[in-house]
Amino acid sequence: MVYLNGAFKPRDEACIMVDDRGFLFGDGIYEVIRVVNGRPFRLDAHLSRMDLGLKELKIRIGERVRELIPDIMQQLIQLNGLEDEQATLYLQITRGVSRPRKHIHPEPANPPTILITANPFEPDYKLQDLGGRVVTVPDVRWMRCDLKTINLLPNTLAAQQGRDQGASGILMVRDGFITEGANYNVFAVVDGVLFTHPDSHLILSGITRSEVIDMAAEAGFPIRLEAVSETEILNAGEVFLCGTTTDILPVIQINDTMIGNGRPGHVTRTLQTILRERMHDDSF
Ligand code: PDD
Repeated sequence: MVYLNGAFKPRDEACIMVDDRGFLFGDGIYEVIRVVNGRPFRLDAHLSRMDLGLKELKIRIGERVRELIPDIMQQLIQLNGLEDEQATLYLQITRGVSRPRKHIHPEPANPPTILITANPFEPDYKLQDLGGRVVTVPDVRWMRCDLKTINLLPNTLAAQQGRDQGASGILMVRDGFITEGANYNVFAVVDGVLFTHPDSHLILSGITRSEVIDMAAEAGFPIRLEAVSETEILNAGEVFLCGTTTDILPVIQINDTMIGNGRPGHVTRTLQTILRERMHDDSF
């Protein structure tokens, strides 16, 4: 069952209008939220990021439906029998229908399209244990990467390029500096200090990235919100990726260069352990 525009429906019966601006223009935002034992992890942070995206795109959803979203999500988890499993929630909001097709926003605004789904999800624990190889690709995205819009063509093409080269992921490089990955943020340990790209219009400020920053402080690892160059990351002692569906994924090789000793390092392992504890903690 999925939720679409005010009603719960079987997935195959939920239909989007052909004039939906999400379909025609990619005019919308989305969120992916992790569910552990029936509970959405860091839901408030995801919904705050959603609110920011809606504000920046000038898409208005009613206050009542906004308040109902956590409840709708909980109902979807139950309707789909995901209370005791790992799962993800997917939320997408678009500017709704525009007919005839015009770039400017319809006046008056049409109701937004609101889709929420709950889906079984299995993290790749084997890859998280062994670590993976990534390849670098040019970051060809626009200047508002801080918004989680549904325009993901550069991300999907980059992810596919990584797959075609036999890699587990990709690192995007803009002006010689690492920004982030296809759907994950990037951290590097250089001379014992954790580095990640600062919050800016060049990256998505990941909810997992914020968690890592918090966990690093708890574990006493020094951290700097500063971008590392492509050369610096190839010489890093440790590198890892993080995201809602990635958890913390050690990177053991970038292109042809081995990272550290080719095995996940101490900082990465420690943060992986704390993240798993936090995700399974009953009080979040
Ligand atoms: N993507 N960077 C990008 C470009 C992303 O798309 C994502 C998440 C992240 C990590 O953010 P978070 O920790 O909040 O998941 C970073 C989701 C998972 C996706 O597109 O599937």
